[in-house]
Amino acid sequence: MWRIGVVRDERQRLSRLVAIGRDVTEEQRLQERVIQSERLAMVGRMAAQVAHEIRNPLSAIGLNIELLTDLIDELPEADRDEAKELIRITMSGIERLNGVIGDYLRFARMPVKQLQEEAVNDMMEELIHLIRSEMHPAHVDLSVRLDGNLPSVKADRMLIGQQVLNCVRNALEAMPDGGVLTLATDIEENEVRISISDTGDGISPEHVERVFDPFFSTKENGTGLGLPYVQQIMQEHGGRLDLNSVPGAGTTVTLLFPASTPEVS
Ligand SMILES: Nc1ncnc2c1ncn2[C@@H]1O[C@H](COP(=O)(O)OP(=O)(O)OP(=O)(O)O)[C@@H](O)[C@H]1O
Ligand SMILES: [Mg+2]
Repeated sequence: MWRIGVVRDERQRLSRLVAIGRDVTEEQRLQERVIQSERLAMVGRMAAQVAHEIRNPLSAIGLNIELLTDLIDELPEADRDEAKELIRITMSGIERLNGVIGDYLRFARMPVKQLQEEAVNDMMEELIHLIRSEMHPAHVDLSVRLDGNLPSVKADRMLIGQQVLNCVRNALEAMPDGGVLTLATDIEENEVRISISDTGDGISPEHVERVFDPFFSTKENGTGLGLPYVQQIMQEHGGRLDLNSVPGAGTTVTLLFPASTPEVS
């Protein structure tokens, strides 16, 4: 009796579960997502620790190689050029590793924000000044459309500048044979928007879901932390990130900030 009761209870429970099957699947999906994000957080902590461990011996290696460079001058001339070339290759490997480690640590550390009222167009003009010279060698035309009538936003100027540059770097990497980079600002429904558009190859449908996963990269030397970092920083600004990509035509990444409401005095 007891067993049957349990079975019946169980069956009833099951049928309730079937009835709310969709909710359960939703819940399961949510749970899986929580597990995945916990796992990613752990991987992130491990990566940061490994990065720390690597950094010190790496800088010692760099220093020793610099010392070796001095010794090379004492070599017979025939060997000197080859030795210098080997050293150059080793140093560029070290620089690359330092760059990757820096990316990991920046991602793990999440610097404290200094939020201030900022005029988005001023920020953009400063950045445009910085990147303009990179366009011509990359065969990229820069098109700029800044809406002259924007309210200010609360932002950490340096952090946001880095994020725009991150997106610009992605845009340029997506247009290896050149194209058009469009930087624009505007406002829609009380959100101030910065958009970075390219005419590159776009993102394939099977990849588009994954571009915000930490460590997802389709590039040989990519760490896959660029977009997740931009997204994280935007969330910390109370804003968000929007990505729209058309395979074969290009990609637009939009950073959206809540417009600051002037304080009532
Ligand atoms: N503008 C873009 N056009 C096409 N693909 C893009 C664009 N931006 C991002 N992606 C895709 O999203 C992936 C993840 O981008 P993300 O910036 O996070 O990492 P990454 O550029 O690969 O490496 P890094 O850590 O050096 O930035 C890229 O590898 C690329 O496949
Ligand atoms: Mg990137």
